[in-house]
Amino acid sequence: KMRKKIVAGNWKMNMNLQEGIALAKELNETLTAEKPNCDVVICTPFIHLASIAAFLNQDVIGLGAENCADKASGAYTGEVSAEMVKSTGAQYVILGHSERRGYYGETPEILKEKVLLALKNGLKVIFCIGESLEEREANKQNDVVKAELEGSVFNLTAEEFKNVIIAYEPIWAIGTGKTATAEQAEEIHAFIRSAVAGKYGNDVAEETSILYGGSCKASNAPELFAKPDIDGGLIGGASLKAADFKGIIDAW
Ligand code: G3H
Repeated sequence: KMRKKIVAGNWKMNMNLQEGIALAKELNETLTAEKPNCDVVICTPFIHLASIAAFLNQDVIGLGAENCADKASGAYTGEVSAEMVKSTGAQYVILGHSERRGYYGETPEILKEKVLLALKNGLKVIFCIGESLEEREANKQNDVVKAELEGSVFNLTAEEFKNVIIAYEPIWAIGTGKTATAEQAEEIHAFIRSAVAGKYGNDVAEETSILYGGSCKASNAPELFAKPDIDGGLIGGASLKAADFKGIIDAW
């Protein structure tokens, strides 16, 4: 595959600062000693970013946030801006995760603003899309992911879109132990790539990395990553232990 292969961890709301630093140090040592065959990224709670950036070998492991604000700055108590994320030394941000959409009411319009601010501040965006179980059972998954792309990222220019990584995460597979089969995942990844091609042309589509997320682990990663349109994974639970995460990285 010509495009970037990526294994990204999403720690979600896990790991206190000391635990997070310990995990990042362990990954840093392991992956510096034995260079991975893919790009590796860890996305951590905001409060960990600056401390981890201080020692992380970002030639080997990229660092990212799990969210950022939909406003640039000002009187928005408790929010963290894209500029602040970037100033910690982080290079990535996850946006549109189904947990943010579902539990925190993030709409396509809000996400559109977040994406624009993240890109404007030089962050790469890992943009998550994916259908619920109900939508899958009604065979609406393609419509759902296409609408999510149209709602928040297809307004970008082709140049801007080059800094977007897509993560397809079927909601029914997140943290459930239920992985999409490699065939199910490949089918929708190919559809997503065709939607990108329809909007930005074949060259951009061929360069877009599309990650799979949802109960991805060392045991199922090889089969998933072998598919032509699956360019890596966005890993939740299995990114919280260095050995588990390394097992997925080694699938490349
Ligand atoms: O962002 C990561 C996904 O939500 C997957 O989480 O690997 O725990 O299923 P999981």
